Amino acid sequence: MKPRVLSGMRPTGALHLGHYHGALKNWVRLQHDYDCYYFVADWHAMTTHYEDHADLERNVYDMVVDWLAAGIEPDRATLFIQSRMPEHAELFTLLAMGTPLSWLQRLPTYRDQMVQATDRHLATFGFLGYPLLQAADILIYKAAFVPVGEDQAPHVEVTREVARRFNHLHAGGQTVLPEPRALFTEVGRMPGLDGARMSKSAGNAIAMRDEPAVVEEKVRRMPTDPQRVRRSDPGDPERCPVWKLHQVYSDAAVKDWAVKGCTSAGIGCLDCKQPVIDAILKEQKPWRERAEAYLGNPKQVHWIVEVGTERARRVARETMKEVRSAMGLVY
Ligand code: TRP
Ligand code: SF4
Repeated sequence: MKPRVLSGMRPTGALHLGHYHGALKNWVRLQHDYDCYYFVADWHAMTTHYEDHADLERNVYDMVVDWLAAGIEPDRATLFIQSRMPEHAELFTLLAMGTPLSWLQRLPTYRDQMVQATDRHLATFGFLGYPLLQAADILIYKAAFVPVGEDQAPHVEVTREVARRFNHLHAGGQTVLPEPRALFTEVGRMPGLDGARMSKSAGNAIAMRDEPAVVEEKVRRMPTDPQRVRRSDPGDPERCPVWKLHQVYSDAAVKDWAVKGCTSAGIGCLDCKQPVIDAILKEQKPWRERAEAYLGNPKQVHWIVEVGTERARRVARETMKEVRSAMGLVY
């Protein structure tokens, strides 16, 4: 039996290259060596965006299509939707009984957002509790590994503490809920069109399924070294967001060509951008082909999620039997 991996993603709509390089690429790799469970964290999306669900359904399925487009294989990985699994909520409720408030209040994601998110009211029970919900998501599958970004490391740490406490309080030190380990994606931050981290809200993203003409247009409009005003001015790649994309997409020879051409004014910025455009289009090609097949057959996507949800439910139910019994809830 392969060790189990579990991860979730919030349904924020069509995914971009940052999602792919930061998480999805790793998910695709892991499905060959682990028993992978990947889910749409739609309740998590509601912990911050509880008032608006107008786009939720579309966002959920757009994201699943992007997973499949990236190469997640439904025969290898179990794909499901969190809100279809009330068992997560049950475990969350039971874990909540013994979890000290301070464990949640001290988390950086909580403290930072409370200060930063001035546009929304986050002094809610749901927002404070969301890392505990995440712990339930993980523990209910007894996952050994949780691939996440660095920002989520404290949540995996809390999950470990919650599991330890549960085993201590309710199982006499036996391992009913094993402690998971975080698996960090080794890649750095994916740069966006302006050189800052790629994100939908910053408006600097290229979507996985952007049309080729859109990709081309976006890259051609990218700002470059601000001090390279004329074609005849030599530039410095270190001041240029295009150079950051070369570091993701170009091999040594192309990078060498770009640096030499830039610093000697031997190439223009549009010349320099072309290999980046070509590399992104090449990367997108198989995604686009797979996505087209799924978009032409939405029933198949629903079916994949349906099968995954039932598979996940069998595991979740088994764990809940053990948890109820450990907590004396079998009357
Ligand atoms: N909290 C994660 C995020 O915002 C998503 C998530 C929810 C998750 N439950 C999870 C990730 C369980 C890993 C495991 O990105
Ligand atoms: Fe940037 Fe390339 Fe133009 Fe240099 S030549 S400023 S690296 S786009």
